[in-house]
Amino acid sequence: MKNLFDINDKVIAVTGAVGVLAGGTAKYLQQQGAFVVYLDLFQDKVDETVADAKAISDKCCGFACNVLDQAALDEVYDKIMATCGRIDVLINGAGGNMPGATIGPDQDVFDLKMEDYSKVLDLNLKGTVMPTMTFAKAFKAQGSGCVVNFSSMSAPQALTRVLGYSNAKAAIDNFTRWMATEMALKYGDKIRVNAIAPGFFISHQNRALLTNEDGSFTERGQQVINNTPFRRFGEQEEVYGTIHYLISDAASFVTGTVAPVDGGFSCFSGV
Ligand SMILES: NC(=O)c1ccc[n+]([C@@H]2O[C@H](COP(=O)([O-])OP(=O)(O)OC[C@H]3O[C@@H](n4cnc5c(N)ncnc54)[C@H](O)[C@@H]3O)[C@@H](O)[C@H]2O)c1
Repeated sequence: MKNLFDINDKVIAVTGAVGVLAGGTAKYLQQQGAFVVYLDLFQDKVDETVADAKAISDKCCGFACNVLDQAALDEVYDKIMATCGRIDVLINGAGGNMPGATIGPDQDVFDLKMEDYSKVLDLNLKGTVMPTMTFAKAFKAQGSGCVVNFSSMSAPQALTRVLGYSNAKAAIDNFTRWMATEMALKYGDKIRVNAIAPGFFISHQNRALLTNEDGSFTERGQQVINNTPFRRFGEQEEVYGTIHYLISDAASFVTGTVAPVDGGFSCFSGV
């Protein structure tokens, strides 16, 4: 029987590909033989990332692309189709939080900054919906394709103080199920849409929130650890395998799911 995890001939577009989780995943998938298209906001960072990725193989390219800019998405889509002729997988890694969309430790709900709240909703929700609607046109034409979205542990339950990001990620879970259903009903069982829900990983955005400069945990960091049965944060490599599985033939009957990768955070009552 063939290797169900073989992704050798897949063309994979990754947004947020300069970041920790999506960027690490993109390089891992390229190492497994896929052709990877690195997409992120700034040209210089994309160029640096692609230069590093060229050390893995020639099977990569990259473009600066704001996931909230439809014209930029259309342009990148045309370039990928011109270069590769197809798109097999979209990984929606662009996302993140912003201080004004959360309530500070000494604030209450009325201190929320609506402008920042809207920005976080846009990035995390529309920033996934817009690339999906753009790139899924290739899936329709090919009769096959696969999306992996990034949800979060803030989606299914209330994470204190974090409103905008939680609302957006909860909507990502809903969008994952909706898009999976629509694509399957209209275009068949070769188009699949899933999400992963990482627990707590140290990234560019949350390092200062979770750890002190000397490496010890902040109060918030310690609360997270207390609620994680594995008693540690995730290592970026620990999301690679779940994404690899979701985009491979090993998951050919799997769609509309949100897979926790969280050291047990989501199943733990805290007691
Ligand atoms: N780190 C965690 O603990 C954690 C937990 C749950 C979910 N997530 C989610 O995982 C995904 C990756 O997060 P990360 O921790 O690797 O963060 P990260 O900050 O390292 O990466 C996010 C990337 O998205 C890019 N980006 C931001 N706005 C963009 C835009 N408008 N267009 C294109 N690119 C844009 C950034 O430049 C950055 O490279 C995000 O969706 C995040 O919400 C992270």
